[in-house]
Amino acid sequence: MLLKGFLVAFALVGLVQAASLSQDERIRYDNFSVFKVRYETQEQRSRLRSLVEEQNNFKHWGAIKDELHLMVSPGVLSQFKTELQRANLSAEVMISNVQELIDSEKEADSRASADESFGWKKYSTLAEIYAWLDGILAAYPTVTEEFIVGQSYEGRTIRGIKISYKSGNPGVLIESNIHANEWIASATATWLINEFLTSDDVLVRQMVETHDWYIVPVLNVDGFVYSHEKDRMWRKTRQPSADSSCIGVDPNRNFDVRWMESDGASSNPCDWNYGGPHALSEPEVQAMTDLVISLKDKINVMLAFHSYSQVLLSPYGHSSVEFPPNYDDLMAVAKAYADAVAKLPYDTVFQYGSVGGLLYPATGATIDLTYQEGIEITYTVEFRDTGHYGFILPPAHIIPNSEEALAGIMALLEKTEELGYMKSKKKL
Ligand SMILES: *[C@@H]1O[C@H](CO)[C@@H](O)[C@H](O)[C@H]1NC(C)=O
Ligand SMILES: *[C@@H]1O[C@H](CO)[C@@H](O)[C@H](O)[C@H]1NC(C)=O
Ligand SMILES: [Zn+2]
Repeated sequence: MLLKGFLVAFALVGLVQAASLSQDERIRYDNFSVFKVRYETQEQRSRLRSLVEEQNNFKHWGAIKDELHLMVSPGVLSQFKTELQRANLSAEVMISNVQELIDSEKEADSRASADESFGWKKYSTLAEIYAWLDGILAAYPTVTEEFIVGQSYEGRTIRGIKISYKSGNPGVLIESNIHANEWIASATATWLINEFLTSDDVLVRQMVETHDWYIVPVLNVDGFVYSHEKDRMWRKTRQPSADSSCIGVDPNRNFDVRWMESDGASSNPCDWNYGGPHALSEPEVQAMTDLVISLKDKINVMLAFHSYSQVLLSPYGHSSVEFPPNYDDLMAVAKAYADAVAKLPYDTVFQYGSVGGLLYPATGATIDLTYQEGIEITYTVEFRDTGHYGFILPPAHIIPNSEEALAGIMALLEKTEELGYMKSKKKL
C-alpha cells in the first residue's frame, strides 16, 4: 500500500499521540504503523535520522542498505507525510497497526501455554526459559554444565550452558537476546540446545559432539523481562541515565571497542542506539566482556543472535571501506550458511557482508570485541524476516527459523574447519 492513500484516512487525527499504558500497564501501540522508506542520498538519510530523534513518535525498527523501517505514531502521520515530501521520499506501509500484531502474538502464546511442554510454539518468558534450562541441566548432567555470565543491573542472573561431549573440541560461543525485543533469538537458541542434546540425525550428532558449545540464551535479562511485562518493543538495558529521564543503553553499542567512534552509536540517552555514558557502563556488557576474555583461548567461532533482516554480518562495524584481514574467509563461511539455508524448503534468503559495509556504522558491538580478542570467525546473525512482521515474528516461525539456524551453523562450521580455523588455539 502506498503512503498517500493511507495518509488521507488519518490526516485529521492531529495531535501528538504517544504510546499509552493500558490497565495492565503494558504499553500499547494502537494504530502505530511501520513504514519502509527507501532513500538514495545522504541528505535524505540524515533527514530520516533526525525524525527518529523524536522518540515518542518515530521509532527506528530496522535498516538494510538504503532502506529504513520506521514506526510512526498515529498522531504524527501528517507531519511524517510532509517530511517525506520535503525529502522527496516515498514510503510503503509495512505494518498498519502494531498493536494488532502484538495482540495476535499474545493470543498464540496463551493458546500454546495451555500445553504444558516447552514446545517452541510460543515465545517463553525468562522464568520459563530458566525453569526449562534447569530441567535440561538435570536431564543431561554428564554433557551439560551451567556457567554464570554475571548479574544484571536489576540483579538478575545471566545464565549460560556449556555442552561438551569430549574435551579438546574447538569451541563455539553463542550470545542471544542482547537486544530485548528480538524474541526469536532466545527461542532459536533454546531450540538449538534441545536439538543438540536430543537429535539422532547422524550429521547433527557429529557436529554437536565435535564442538564445545557455550550458549547464553538471554544476555539482556532485564530488558527481556521488561519486553514481556511492559513494552513489547523494548530493546535496551534497564539502567537509568544520570542526566536524562530516558532509561537504558543499547548494549550492543556499549562494548569497549571503538566505542562511539565513526558515528557508530548515539550519545543521546533517548535514542534506540545510545552507546551509554561510557564504554562498559552496563553490567551485562561488562559480564559478557569478562566471559569472552576468559573463554577466548577455547573459542573458534562466535555468533550473536539477533533479528531481523536475514543477514550475516561480520566485523568491522566502524567503517564501510575498511575490512578485517580475513574478510574473504568470513564471506566464504557466511556464504556456506546462506547456501545451506537456501536448500531448505522455506525460500529464505540470507545476505552477508560486514556491518559497516552492508548496513551502517555501528561500533561497540560484541562481534567487534570477539574479533579483537582473536576469535576470527564471528558474526551477528539477523534472523527472519526481511520486514513483514519485523520484531513481532509470529510464533509459527520459531521452528522453521530454528531449522534454518541449525542447517546454517552446520555448514558454517564445516567451512570454518575447511579453511583451517578449527585448530586448537592454545599456544599459537
Ligand atoms: C485506531 O484507528 C481506528 C480507525 O481510524 C479508530 O476507530 C480507533 O479508535 C483507533 N484506536 C485508537 C486506540 O486510537
Ligand atoms: C524526486 O525524485 C524523483 C524520482 O526519483 C526525481 O525524478 C526527481 O528529480 C526528484 N526531485 C527532486 C527535487 O529531487
Ligand atoms: Zn539486535
